[in-house]
Amino acid sequence: MIKLAVFGNPIQQSKSPQIHHAFARQCGLSIDYQPLLVEEGHFNTMARAFLSQMEARGCNVTAPCKLDAHAFADALTPIAELTGAVNTLHKQPDGVILGHNTDGGGLIDDILSQHIRIHGSRVLLIGAGGAARGVLPSLLAEMPKHLTIVNRTVHKANALEAIHRAVRAPSSLSLESFHTLTEDSFDIIINATSLSLTNQVPELLPSIVKGSQLVYDMVYAPQRKPFLDWALDNGATAVSDGLGMLVGQAALSFEMWTGHKPDSAEVIKHLRQQL
Ligand code: ATR
Repeated sequence: MIKLAVFGNPIQQSKSPQIHHAFARQCGLSIDYQPLLVEEGHFNTMARAFLSQMEARGCNVTAPCKLDAHAFADALTPIAELTGAVNTLHKQPDGVILGHNTDGGGLIDDILSQHIRIHGSRVLLIGAGGAARGVLPSLLAEMPKHLTIVNRTVHKANALEAIHRAVRAPSSLSLESFHTLTEDSFDIIINATSLSLTNQVPELLPSIVKGSQLVYDMVYAPQRKPFLDWALDNGATAVSDGLGMLVGQAALSFEMWTGHKPDSAEVIKHLRQQL
């Protein structure tokens, strides 16, 4: 029996246990994946206790513990180092705890599975908080032609500029505020703000959507969020919420722990029916 877990607060709403048990069934593995509630200041003790169990292979980490997990890890993958946040801890055979971040990989896999080409495209990333930072290195690794980051508070995007410099990405980068992003068009638009959680839409010119191939919202929900409705009303060819990213990041963690590559599409379909 492989022991796995997800740490966060709140945690009961997490779909990760269901997703990972579905992956395990697909792969014929026996796992025990538990949601574990972390009270403030208790992440290290809880993670240490969990990972010291012989059967524990690793764990996921969600809000608000991703920075704690970054500090906790004995070693970091280059992506985790750049994002400053860890959503996956993986116990190595020698006991070293490796920290990784699969959020960006999950987003990329979901976009590519929708037959959208990122390489050479013009991408708009809306937001400059933890969610945007978490996906930026993976996005740049796909080598879009140009990446524009737009944020309400433009100076908060400076940390993201530093990531762009650090990876020496060939993609050009521009940083804009909602007011300075005027006439432009994009192939892919990704909403990484928290606005959809409160059914709000960023104040962007509707003309930026026209001609885009995909408008993506990292938030997922049973009903389409106003941001995606706004995109469709203004000429987006296709829209997607973040359910596929959720399953995609889980699939990459699962593969890291078990060596098995699960079928995300089947699990996305099943979860969609249950939303
Ligand atoms: P997360 O981890 O979800 O990214 P975060 O780090 O708090 O959370 O970042 C939230 C993002 O949503 C930021 O880009 C934030 O913009 P600011 O940097 O200007 O704060 C954006 N956001 C939140 N509320 C917003 C609002 N009412 N209007 C525009 N952007 C908003």
